Amino acid sequence: MKFGKIHLVDDDITTLHVDAIVNAANNSLLGGGGVDGAIHRAAGSDLLEECRTLNGCETGNAKITGGYNLPAKHVIHTVGPIWKGGKQNEPKLLASCYLRCFALADKYGLTTIAFPAISTGVYGYPKKAAAQIAINETIGALKKNSKLEKVYCVCFNQETREAYEIALSQL
Ligand code: AR6
Repeated sequence: MKFGKIHLVDDDITTLHVDAIVNAANNSLLGGGGVDGAIHRAAGSDLLEECRTLNGCETGNAKITGGYNLPAKHVIHTVGPIWKGGKQNEPKLLASCYLRCFALADKYGLTTIAFPAISTGVYGYPKKAAAQIAINETIGALKKNSKLEKVYCVCFNQETREAYEIALSQL
């Protein structure tokens, strides 16, 4: 599916040939399960070596590394909020993840970037609400950064795809 520069894709994010893929990491940046585990497995141990030099990452922030054995040139590691019912600043923190990733994309002159649905797996963020934040922040970034050519929202399951489709249909 295509919506201007926003593309919904069903692939495994580790297979994408883009300037950067985004990792839904944890505060340690030293790997984990879900998309984080898949990215570290596909990138190889040099990614972990570089991550060890970063001193972790705060929730809502993002840090960039090389892509090593991945087809992507860079990995942008961001740490989404753990869903605790919605009154612990989760929406702001999730929006901040996207903002900080796009700020790095701008700083590094990246033209193509792929996001997983940050926080919607192990961290339990409701998929529809998360998709709306992702799409809003993506549109905001596309308005500001003319270098961005393609933003991929990776739908790893049908529920995630539907959440993005709803968010896009409400624009
Ligand atoms: N490609 C694209 N999307 C994927 C892939 C993949 N290969 N694998 C999973 N997803 P999650 P979180 C989707 O749990 O909720 C880790 O242990 C998945 O279906 O990976 O932010 C970290 O170390 C979901 O839509 O990340 C943290 O401890 C989305 O990616 C914690 O999990 C995010 O699910 C972060 O939890």
